[in-house]
Amino acid sequence: MEMDRATRRSEIDGLMSSAYARHLPNRSGAVADYIPELARADAEKFGVAIATVDGAIRSIGDAEQPFTIQSVSKAFVYCLALELVGRDAMLERVGVEPSGDAFNAIYFDPRTDRPFNPMVNAGAITVAGIIHDVAGAGAFDLVLDKLSQAAGRKLDMDEAVYRSEAETGHRNRAIAHLLRNVGALSGDVDPIVDLYFRQCAIRVTAVDLAHMGSTLAHIGENPATGVQVFDLTAVRSTLAVMFTCGMYDYSGNWAFDVGVPAKSGVGGGICGVVNRQLGIGTYSPRLDPKGNSVRGLAVFSDLAEELGLHAFDCSNIGSAFVSSLIR
Ligand code: DON
Repeated sequence: MEMDRATRRSEIDGLMSSAYARHLPNRSGAVADYIPELARADAEKFGVAIATVDGAIRSIGDAEQPFTIQSVSKAFVYCLALELVGRDAMLERVGVEPSGDAFNAIYFDPRTDRPFNPMVNAGAITVAGIIHDVAGAGAFDLVLDKLSQAAGRKLDMDEAVYRSEAETGHRNRAIAHLLRNVGALSGDVDPIVDLYFRQCAIRVTAVDLAHMGSTLAHIGENPATGVQVFDLTAVRSTLAVMFTCGMYDYSGNWAFDVGVPAKSGVGGGICGVVNRQLGIGTYSPRLDPKGNSVRGLAVFSDLAEELGLHAFDCSNIGSAFVSSLIR
């Protein structure tokens, strides 16, 4: 007999609160400080949220605490850019191969002279270049509007974090000039890097990340608002890249252990997508040496185990399409 809604809800709440309590005492890792303003985050904050494709939201802890989205934006801006220029034009500018390198590596795919994938900085800056080519001075508003639709509310930008990164982001400027040198970017790179800094400074909460994840899980439609935010073919490509490259040089371990497409950011957020089921958002600003939130990783790993979320878990039946044809 199917469990009723209230029983399922209390089951999920129980699992979330025990995972939360288990990892709350973990104070390992360090808050990112290479962008000076990020160092001001309260290291103790910890929030977890789950949004399902039928529009329900459950959360625990500091799930409404705002923080900057940072690299989690890369997945959503990639999805938007795919929609704008299509898959083939995108593949000419940015690859889809995991690099195995740190997110800020100054190294492109030697076979193509293009960034390995859109989840490392070189790829994300090239994607920002694509958005800038299409939308010019309106590029940031387009990005902010799309991410707001995915979250289901109007998001804004943290001015102080933006300014702090704009003042110190010389490594990203260097990457942009090298991209210009190999022809992956054209024209003036300053407004492109500025767009990248701005998109990283968009302010979200764990609840927002859960809604954004559920929008991808629901093939581009925000389940809470009913708005079709992203094109479904762009969602498929984005999830594939999140699965293989979303957690930087930890992506292989993540696919092995947790097994869901996800993206992390140095602000302390992680957004995970359980295809056709739910989005998960976590926030805890202490990071491991690869730049992933320590408590976020731990909570994802527990929830994946306990709820059977891994894409290749025996309880996930995969696509029903072929069997519907055979039947
Ligand atoms: O490019 C940067 O340095 C940041 N604005 C974003 C990097 C980031 O979040 C990488 N995350 N793990």
